[in-house]
Amino acid sequence: KTDLEMGFEALRNGEFILVYDDDDREGEVDMIIASEFVRPKSIATMRDYAGGLICNCLAPEYCDAINLPFMTDIMQAATSKYPNLAELAPNDIPYDERSSFSIWVNHRNSFTGVTDHDRAMTIREMAIMLKEERYGDFGKTFRSPGHVCLLRGAEGLVKNRRGHTEIGLAMCEMAGVTPVCVVCEMMDSKTGRATSIEDAKKYADENGLVLLKGQDIIEKYLEE
Ligand code: 5RP
Ligand code: CA
Ligand code: CA
Ligand code: ZN
Repeated sequence: KTDLEMGFEALRNGEFILVYDDDDREGEVDMIIASEFVRPKSIATMRDYAGGLICNCLAPEYCDAINLPFMTDIMQAATSKYPNLAELAPNDIPYDERSSFSIWVNHRNSFTGVTDHDRAMTIREMAIMLKEERYGDFGKTFRSPGHVCLLRGAEGLVKNRRGHTEIGLAMCEMAGVTPVCVVCEMMDSKTGRATSIEDAKKYADENGLVLLKGQDIIEKYLEE
């Protein structure tokens, strides 16, 4: 079996995969899991062994269906009332042209929203709502602001942007799971920097996980 096939299988089984984007991009390894399978334990694993932001990535078709804006669009639209927001435009991201950040949400049955239980519910119920095409339930089911950041996948995924957002969603599509996935960056508390690809590989081997390179995923997606 190829590493890619093992990655598809892991996603279908509700297990984590590790993905390194690229030397000429962030140079970060994210833990990625299909959102429909997320449980409180998955959140605890990401807090303990990744430590970055826990974000829920949504396929562009789903974002269109619930009319989910990028955060930059919201801020742009708010500048007539808050002109200083225009000065914050993210036009100097050192590794990409745009960010995939959208709004932050909590499931309405959350208490604080940040516990493993609450975040798992917010993440999983979003995937299930979208899978079942209950688009009209968005505002009935979630409140904003909240503790889970939504990331909006670019149209055409890796054809237009090569972030973990699009790479993770492309993996879901190819694996045949609902294209909603969680990404969380692996951070190294000893160095204060991103976990190196060597240390991520060690973690993968010790825990029976597959570590994939973004470029291999992008190539596979583009040839399909
Ligand atoms: C959210 C991020 C991460 O880098 C995440 O991997 C998604 O972003 P991108 O698609 O730019 O890689 O910034 O915590
Ligand atoms: Ca980032
Ligand atoms: Ca709080
Ligand atoms: Zn990333």
